[in-house]
Amino acid sequence: MSSILTVENLTKNYGNVLAVDDISFEIEKGLCFGLLGPNGAGKTTTIEMMEGILKPSSGRALFKGKPIGPHFHERVGIQFQNTALQDFITVEETLKLFSALYSTHRDPEEVIEICSLGDILKRDNRKLSGGQRQRLLLALALVNDPEMVFLDEPTTGLDPQARRNFWSLIEKIKKEGKTILLTTHYMEEAEVLCDEVAIMDHGHIIARDVPDNLLKEHFDGVIVQLPWREDQPLPESAKRVNDRIEIHSRDVDSTLHGLIHTGVHLNGLSIHSPDLEDLFLKLTGSSLRA
Ligand SMILES: Nc1ncnc2c1ncn2[C@@H]1O[C@H](COP(=O)(O)OP(=O)(O)OP(=O)(O)O)[C@@H](O)[C@H]1O
Ligand SMILES: [Mg+2]
Repeated sequence: MSSILTVENLTKNYGNVLAVDDISFEIEKGLCFGLLGPNGAGKTTTIEMMEGILKPSSGRALFKGKPIGPHFHERVGIQFQNTALQDFITVEETLKLFSALYSTHRDPEEVIEICSLGDILKRDNRKLSGGQRQRLLLALALVNDPEMVFLDEPTTGLDPQARRNFWSLIEKIKKEGKTILLTTHYMEEAEVLCDEVAIMDHGHIIARDVPDNLLKEHFDGVIVQLPWREDQPLPESAKRVNDRIEIHSRDVDSTLHGLIHTGVHLNGLSIHSPDLEDLFLKLTGSSLRA
Protein backbone atom coordinates (compact mmCIF):
# COMPACT_ATOMS: atom_id res chain seq x y z
CA MET A 1 0.00 0.00 0.00
CA SER A 2 1.13 3.55 -0.57
CA SER A 3 0.85 6.59 1.61
CA ILE A 4 -1.53 9.32 0.45
CA LEU A 5 -0.79 11.76 3.25
CA THR A 6 2.41 12.06 5.25
CA VAL A 7 3.06 14.23 8.26
CA GLU A 8 6.68 15.09 9.09
CA ASN A 9 7.61 16.62 12.45
CA LEU A 10 4.46 18.73 12.52
CA THR A 11 4.49 21.27 15.34
CA LYS A 12 2.17 24.14 16.26
CA ASN A 13 2.63 26.77 18.95
CA TYR A 14 -0.09 29.25 19.79
CA GLY A 15 2.04 31.72 21.73
CA ASN A 16 3.05 29.78 24.84
CA VAL A 17 0.71 26.88 24.10
CA LEU A 18 2.40 23.96 22.38
CA ALA A 19 -0.74 22.48 20.79
CA VAL A 20 1.03 19.91 18.58
CA ASP A 21 4.51 18.72 19.43
CA ASP A 22 6.64 17.21 16.66
CA ILE A 23 4.35 14.48 15.35
CA SER A 24 5.04 12.26 12.34
CA PHE A 25 2.89 9.58 10.71
CA GLU A 26 1.54 8.37 7.37
CA ILE A 27 -1.94 7.57 6.15
CA GLU A 28 -2.27 4.71 3.68
CA LYS A 29 -4.48 5.23 0.65
CA GLY A 30 -7.98 3.80 1.03
CA LEU A 31 -7.87 3.47 4.80
CA CYS A 32 -9.94 5.14 7.47
CA PHE A 33 -7.43 6.68 9.87
CA GLY A 34 -8.63 7.88 13.27
CA LEU A 35 -7.04 10.65 15.30
CA LEU A 36 -8.29 10.09 18.84
CA GLY A 37 -7.90 12.03 22.01
CA PRO A 38 -9.62 14.10 24.68
CA ASN A 39 -10.61 17.77 24.45
CA GLY A 40 -7.57 19.93 23.81
CA ALA A 41 -5.32 17.02 22.74
CA GLY A 42 -4.45 18.81 19.49
CA LYS A 43 -6.67 16.92 17.02
CA THR A 44 -8.21 19.92 15.28
CA THR A 45 -4.87 21.73 15.16
CA THR A 46 -3.31 18.65 13.57
CA ILE A 47 -6.08 18.00 11.05
CA GLU A 48 -6.19 21.68 10.04
CA MET A 49 -2.44 21.66 9.37
CA MET A 50 -2.93 18.50 7.29
CA GLU A 51 -5.76 20.21 5.40
CA GLY A 52 -3.51 23.12 4.52
CA ILE A 53 -5.83 25.45 6.49
CA LEU A 54 -3.43 26.21 9.34
CA LYS A 55 0.26 26.99 8.89
CA PRO A 56 2.52 24.73 10.98
CA SER A 57 5.11 26.37 13.26
CA SER A 58 7.48 23.74 11.88
CA GLY A 59 7.31 20.47 10.00
CA ARG A 60 5.12 19.75 7.00
CA ALA A 61 2.33 17.67 5.52
CA LEU A 62 2.77 15.97 2.14
CA PHE A 63 -0.08 14.87 -0.14
CA LYS A 64 1.06 12.00 -2.37
CA GLY A 65 4.66 12.81 -1.53
CA LYS A 66 4.46 16.51 -2.45
CA PRO A 67 3.92 19.61 -0.31
CA ILE A 68 0.30 20.69 -0.28
CA GLY A 69 -0.14 22.76 -3.41
CA PRO A 70 -2.79 24.91 -5.09
CA HIS A 71 -4.82 21.96 -6.45
CA PHE A 72 -4.96 20.13 -3.13
CA HIS A 73 -8.39 21.50 -2.16
CA GLU A 74 -9.86 20.27 -5.47
CA ARG A 75 -8.82 16.73 -4.55
CA VAL A 76 -9.98 16.56 -0.94
CA GLY A 77 -13.20 17.13 1.00
CA ILE A 78 -13.29 18.77 4.41
CA GLN A 79 -15.89 18.69 7.17
CA PHE A 80 -14.83 21.17 9.86
CA GLN A 81 -15.57 20.73 13.55
CA ASN A 82 -17.62 23.94 13.43
CA THR A 83 -19.16 25.17 10.19
CA ALA A 84 -21.63 28.00 9.74
CA LEU A 85 -24.22 27.23 7.07
CA GLN A 86 -25.85 30.02 5.10
CA ASP A 87 -29.24 30.91 6.62
CA PHE A 88 -32.44 31.18 4.54
CA ILE A 89 -31.31 28.76 1.83
CA THR A 90 -32.31 25.13 1.44
CA VAL A 91 -30.24 21.95 1.58
CA GLU A 92 -30.50 21.67 -2.21
CA GLU A 93 -29.35 25.27 -2.73
CA THR A 94 -26.47 24.74 -0.30
CA LEU A 95 -25.31 21.70 -2.26
CA LYS A 96 -25.44 23.69 -5.52
CA LEU A 97 -23.60 26.62 -3.95
CA PHE A 98 -20.72 24.45 -2.74
CA SER A 99 -20.62 22.39 -5.90
CA ALA A 100 -20.09 25.57 -7.94
CA LEU A 101 -16.83 26.20 -6.07
CA TYR A 102 -15.12 23.20 -7.67
CA SER A 103 -14.08 22.25 -11.18
CA THR A 104 -14.73 18.53 -10.56
CA HIS A 105 -18.23 17.42 -9.59
CA ARG A 106 -19.83 14.25 -8.46
CA ASP A 107 -23.36 13.49 -9.69
CA PRO A 108 -25.49 15.44 -7.14
CA GLU A 109 -28.06 12.61 -7.07
CA GLU A 110 -25.35 10.23 -5.83
CA VAL A 111 -24.27 12.60 -3.09
CA ILE A 112 -27.91 13.06 -2.03
CA GLU A 113 -28.37 9.27 -1.99
CA ILE A 114 -25.17 8.53 -0.03
CA CYS A 115 -25.98 11.13 2.61
CA SER A 116 -29.73 10.35 2.75
CA LEU A 117 -30.76 13.93 2.00
CA GLY A 118 -33.61 13.12 -0.41
CA ASP A 119 -36.38 13.93 2.07
CA ILE A 120 -34.98 17.25 3.25
CA LEU A 121 -33.76 18.90 0.04
CA LYS A 122 -36.29 21.75 0.29
CA ARG A 123 -35.66 22.38 3.98
CA ASP A 124 -34.06 25.61 5.18
CA ASN A 125 -30.63 25.03 6.75
CA ARG A 126 -31.88 26.65 9.96
CA LYS A 127 -34.50 23.93 10.41
CA LEU A 128 -32.15 20.93 10.27
CA SER A 129 -31.73 18.55 13.19
CA GLY A 130 -28.20 17.81 14.43
CA GLY A 131 -28.00 14.55 12.47
CA GLN A 132 -29.41 16.12 9.28
CA ARG A 133 -26.95 18.98 9.55
CA GLN A 134 -24.00 16.59 9.90
CA ARG A 135 -25.25 14.63 6.85
CA LEU A 136 -25.42 17.85 4.84
CA LEU A 137 -21.90 18.82 5.96
CA LEU A 138 -20.65 15.40 4.87
CA ALA A 139 -22.39 15.86 1.51
CA LEU A 140 -20.63 19.23 1.10
CA ALA A 141 -17.32 17.44 1.66
CA LEU A 142 -18.21 15.01 -1.16
CA VAL A 143 -19.50 17.34 -3.92
CA ASN A 144 -16.11 17.48 -5.67
CA ASP A 145 -15.69 13.68 -5.59
CA PRO A 146 -12.56 13.90 -3.42
CA GLU A 147 -9.89 11.21 -3.09
CA MET A 148 -9.57 11.94 0.59
CA VAL A 149 -12.09 13.19 3.15
CA PHE A 150 -11.24 14.98 6.43
CA LEU A 151 -13.90 14.71 9.13
CA ASP A 152 -13.30 16.58 12.38
CA GLU A 153 -15.55 15.14 15.11
CA PRO A 154 -18.41 14.48 12.71
CA THR A 155 -20.65 12.78 15.29
CA THR A 156 -20.07 14.89 18.40
CA GLY A 157 -23.38 15.98 19.86
CA LEU A 158 -25.44 13.42 17.94
CA ASP A 159 -27.67 10.99 19.80
CA PRO A 160 -26.61 7.31 19.67
CA GLN A 161 -29.04 6.47 16.84
CA ALA A 162 -27.98 9.41 14.66
CA ARG A 163 -24.34 8.52 15.37
CA ARG A 164 -24.89 4.96 14.15
CA ASN A 165 -26.66 6.26 11.04
CA PHE A 166 -23.69 8.50 10.36
CA TRP A 167 -21.31 5.55 10.76
CA SER A 168 -23.14 3.73 7.97
CA LEU A 169 -22.62 6.76 5.68
CA ILE A 170 -18.91 6.67 6.44
CA GLU A 171 -18.87 2.93 5.72
CA LYS A 172 -20.35 3.69 2.27
CA ILE A 173 -17.61 6.22 1.53
CA LYS A 174 -14.97 3.74 2.73
CA LYS A 175 -16.33 1.10 0.34
CA GLU A 176 -15.79 3.52 -2.54
CA GLY A 177 -12.08 3.41 -1.72
CA LYS A 178 -11.81 6.97 -0.47
CA THR A 179 -9.22 7.67 2.22
CA ILE A 180 -10.72 9.10 5.40
CA LEU A 181 -9.10 11.00 8.23
CA LEU A 182 -11.47 11.18 11.15
CA THR A 183 -11.05 12.77 14.56
CA THR A 184 -13.18 11.63 17.43
CA HIS A 185 -13.23 11.24 21.16
CA TYR A 186 -15.62 8.31 20.92
CA MET A 187 -13.45 5.22 21.20
CA GLU A 188 -16.32 2.99 20.13
CA GLU A 189 -16.62 4.99 16.90
CA ALA A 190 -12.93 4.49 16.20
CA GLU A 191 -13.21 0.76 16.85
CA VAL A 192 -16.11 0.46 14.42
CA LEU A 193 -14.78 2.66 11.62
CA CYS A 194 -11.01 2.99 11.76
CA ASP A 195 -8.46 0.68 10.15
CA GLU A 196 -5.71 2.47 11.98
CA VAL A 197 -5.68 4.94 14.87
CA ALA A 198 -3.31 7.43 16.42
CA ILE A 199 -4.06 8.35 20.02
CA MET A 200 -3.17 11.95 20.89
CA ASP A 201 -2.69 13.50 24.29
CA HIS A 202 -1.21 16.93 25.08
CA GLY A 203 -0.02 17.40 21.49
CA HIS A 204 1.77 14.04 21.31
CA ILE A 205 0.90 10.80 19.58
CA ILE A 206 1.15 8.26 22.36
CA ALA A 207 0.15 5.15 20.38
CA ARG A 208 -0.51 4.31 16.75
CA ASP A 209 -1.52 1.06 15.06
CA VAL A 210 -4.45 -1.08 13.95
CA PRO A 211 -6.88 -0.99 16.94
CA ASP A 212 -6.70 -4.78 17.45
CA ASN A 213 -2.90 -4.75 17.45
CA LEU A 214 -2.83 -1.98 20.03
CA LEU A 215 -5.18 -3.91 22.30
CA LYS A 216 -3.20 -7.15 21.89
CA GLU A 217 0.05 -5.34 22.60
CA HIS A 218 -1.19 -3.70 25.80
CA PHE A 219 -3.64 -6.20 27.27
CA ASP A 220 -3.80 -9.86 28.01
CA GLY A 221 -7.14 -11.16 29.30
CA VAL A 222 -10.22 -9.26 30.46
CA ILE A 223 -11.07 -6.41 32.81
CA VAL A 224 -13.15 -7.10 35.91
CA GLN A 225 -14.84 -4.01 37.34
CA LEU A 226 -16.60 -3.44 40.65
CA PRO A 227 -18.08 -0.30 42.19
CA TRP A 228 -15.68 1.36 44.65
CA ARG A 229 -16.90 1.05 48.26
CA GLU A 230 -15.47 3.00 51.16
CA ASP A 231 -16.28 0.18 53.56
CA GLN A 232 -14.07 -2.46 52.00
CA PRO A 233 -10.33 -2.60 51.35
CA LEU A 234 -8.95 -2.51 47.82
CA PRO A 235 -8.34 -6.15 46.83
CA GLU A 236 -4.78 -7.08 45.90
CA SER A 237 -4.02 -6.42 42.20
CA ALA A 238 -7.00 -4.03 41.96
CA LYS A 239 -6.69 -0.40 40.95
CA ARG A 240 -9.13 2.35 41.82
CA VAL A 241 -10.41 4.31 38.82
CA ASN A 242 -12.83 7.12 39.73
CA ASP A 243 -15.89 5.45 41.27
CA ARG A 244 -14.89 1.88 40.46
CA ILE A 245 -12.11 -0.63 40.95
CA GLU A 246 -10.52 -2.59 38.14
CA ILE A 247 -8.70 -5.89 38.03
CA HIS A 248 -6.94 -7.06 34.87
CA SER A 249 -7.39 -10.81 34.80
CA ARG A 250 -6.14 -13.68 32.67
CA ASP A 251 -8.17 -16.18 34.66
CA VAL A 252 -11.66 -15.00 35.63
CA ASP A 253 -12.32 -18.11 37.76
CA SER A 254 -9.40 -17.52 40.06
CA THR A 255 -9.94 -13.74 40.14
CA LEU A 256 -13.56 -14.22 41.27
CA HIS A 257 -12.62 -16.93 43.77
CA GLY A 258 -9.98 -14.60 45.17
CA LEU A 259 -12.52 -11.78 45.55
CA ILE A 260 -15.06 -14.04 47.24
CA HIS A 261 -12.36 -15.43 49.52
CA THR A 262 -11.41 -11.94 50.69
CA GLY A 263 -15.07 -11.12 51.35
CA VAL A 264 -15.43 -8.45 48.67
CA HIS A 265 -19.06 -7.71 47.71
CA LEU A 266 -19.64 -8.67 44.09
CA ASN A 267 -22.80 -6.57 43.56
CA GLY A 268 -22.39 -4.47 40.42
CA LEU A 269 -19.55 -6.63 39.04
CA SER A 270 -18.95 -6.53 35.29
CA ILE A 271 -16.43 -8.13 32.98
CA HIS A 272 -15.42 -6.86 29.53
CA SER A 273 -12.70 -7.27 26.92
CA PRO A 274 -10.34 -4.28 26.91
CA ASP A 275 -11.20 -1.56 24.42
CA LEU A 276 -9.54 1.65 23.25
CA GLU A 277 -11.07 3.52 26.18
CA ASP A 278 -9.20 1.15 28.54
CA LEU A 279 -6.05 1.63 26.50
CA PHE A 280 -6.28 5.39 26.82
CA LEU A 281 -6.70 5.05 30.57
CA LYS A 282 -3.71 2.72 30.75
CA LEU A 283 -1.49 5.01 28.69
CA THR A 284 -2.41 8.31 30.30
CA GLY A 285 -3.78 7.41 33.71
CA SER A 286 -6.91 9.44 32.99
CA SER A 287 -10.22 8.52 31.52
CA LEU A 288 -11.00 9.94 28.09
CA ARG A 289 -14.48 11.08 29.04
CA ALA A 290 -13.46 12.60 32.34
N1 LIG B 1 -6.24 29.72 17.99
C1 LIG B 1 -5.76 29.28 19.15
N2 LIG B 1 -5.08 30.08 19.99
C2 LIG B 1 -4.57 29.64 21.16
N3 LIG B 1 -4.68 28.35 21.58
C3 LIG B 1 -5.33 27.51 20.80
C4 LIG B 1 -5.93 27.91 19.54
N4 LIG B 1 -6.52 26.83 18.98
C5 LIG B 1 -6.32 25.81 19.83
N5 LIG B 1 -5.62 26.20 20.92
C6 LIG B 1 -5.17 25.36 22.05
O1 LIG B 1 -4.43 24.28 21.50
C7 LIG B 1 -4.73 23.07 22.18
C8 LIG B 1 -5.23 22.04 21.19
O2 LIG B 1 -6.50 22.45 20.68
P1 LIG B 1 -7.29 21.62 19.57
O3 LIG B 1 -8.47 22.43 19.18
O4 LIG B 1 -6.36 21.22 18.49
O5 LIG B 1 -7.73 20.34 20.41
P2 LIG B 1 -8.74 19.18 20.02
O6 LIG B 1 -8.04 17.90 20.29
O7 LIG B 1 -9.29 19.39 18.67
O8 LIG B 1 -9.89 19.36 21.12
P3 LIG B 1 -11.48 19.11 21.00
O9 LIG B 1 -11.70 17.64 21.22
O10 LIG B 1 -12.03 19.91 22.15
O11 LIG B 1 -11.96 19.58 19.67
C9 LIG B 1 -5.72 23.44 23.26
O12 LIG B 1 -5.02 23.63 24.45
C10 LIG B 1 -6.33 24.73 22.75
O13 LIG B 1 -6.80 25.53 23.82
MG1 LIG C 1 -11.17 19.66 17.91
